[in-house]
Amino acid sequence: MIGTFALVNIGQLVTLVGPRRARTGAEMSELGVIENAALLIEGGVIVAVGTEAELGSRISPTMLEIDAGGRCVTPGFVDAHTHLVFAGNRAMEFEQRIGGATYQEIAAAGGGILRTVSLTREATEDELLASARFYRNWMLRSGTTTIEAKSGYGLDRDTELRMLRVLARLDEEGPVRIVPTLLAAHTVPPEFAGRREEYVRWIVEELIPEVGAEKLALYCDAFCDDHAFTVDETRDVLTAARRNGLELRLHAEQFRPGTGAALAAELGATTADHLETVTEETLGQLCRAGVQPVLLPGSVFALGRTNYPPARKMIEMGLAVVLATDFNPGSSPIASMPFIFSLACLQMGMSPAEALTAGTVNAAWSLGLGDQIGSLEPGMQADFLIHEFDDYRELPYFIAAPARRRVFIGGNDVTR
Ligand code: NIG
Ligand code: FE
Repeated sequence: MIGTFALVNIGQLVTLVGPRRARTGAEMSELGVIENAALLIEGGVIVAVGTEAELGSRISPTMLEIDAGGRCVTPGFVDAHTHLVFAGNRAMEFEQRIGGATYQEIAAAGGGILRTVSLTREATEDELLASARFYRNWMLRSGTTTIEAKSGYGLDRDTELRMLRVLARLDEEGPVRIVPTLLAAHTVPPEFAGRREEYVRWIVEELIPEVGAEKLALYCDAFCDDHAFTVDETRDVLTAARRNGLELRLHAEQFRPGTGAALAAELGATTADHLETVTEETLGQLCRAGVQPVLLPGSVFALGRTNYPPARKMIEMGLAVVLATDFNPGSSPIASMPFIFSLACLQMGMSPAEALTAGTVNAAWSLGLGDQIGSLEPGMQADFLIHEFDDYRELPYFIAAPARRRVFIGGNDVTR
């Protein structure tokens, strides 16, 4: 049977076994490490986990064995917030920001998201697929095995649907699992300038019902901020999404407090993402509503800012923190989860264990996939990494290391 083998000689197996839900507080430090371990995999699914001594009798002489070389094995990384599909890039704006222009100033002058929108509208579906596949491969080589990815550079019917079709095709061709999110409320497109309420109405009355009926997205997101959508506009979009069978994620409180996190709590969104400027009071609301914060330190770093979100406070308060890249051509041209782990440890005070939990099992639960991926235990998909190092702490410690890792998804070796 394909995807059937024993993975043996694992020096350090990070299983992340634990409760069947996202981890909070001290649970985020409990990695379920097994030394001198083995994994048995059948048809791409894990059937047994333990020490080599425990599993030895179950490994028959005819069974295929893969040798982990005494190295560290972890679950594949789950990147729960990306903008993977886009045309062109914004290296010019990178240079402008170094020269002193801010992200918001560039956007106000017609650059930023709208620059990528005009390039993306001109690109064919095949061109967008080729570009998404190219960056997807960067992520795969960095150890990412599941990617959430958003539309949001179309902002018209044809281009938004084209972006979602690209995500469906990329998921179908594999090997990386893709979870699609509609982000039509990313910014107001130029043809609706001065008529923003009509743009919101079009999203609510036409686009969301079509996307929901065709099941082109599982989640709906919106960018709630000064230069994007107000709390009331965002509420209209997200309640329409809910009515049409989509679950909710939200870009909230990136630049100004009071832009969306309380709304995420009010609506029971699955996640509230960014949260660089969130207040303690709002964090309490997120906690009570069970909303998972998705922290994106890459966009803080790449915008040359220093206001990292308060991860320590969130963990103390009992929030099930997630880490993601926010990979996009503007605020976060960062595809690497290991680099995000380094930032989380060095800039937000997360421990290596907490960072790994946030980028695997907690991220998986935030995508509704926690019963299939994110930890290595019987019944889960065999999505795992054989690292070049012996101890999981080396993952954030060797910053931006050009490390190679063997990547398995559903029990298949998909190393690029
Ligand atoms: O998550 N904040 C809004 N959206 C993206 C940036 C998109 C872009 O600049 O192209 C983000 O940071
Ligand atoms: Fe984003």
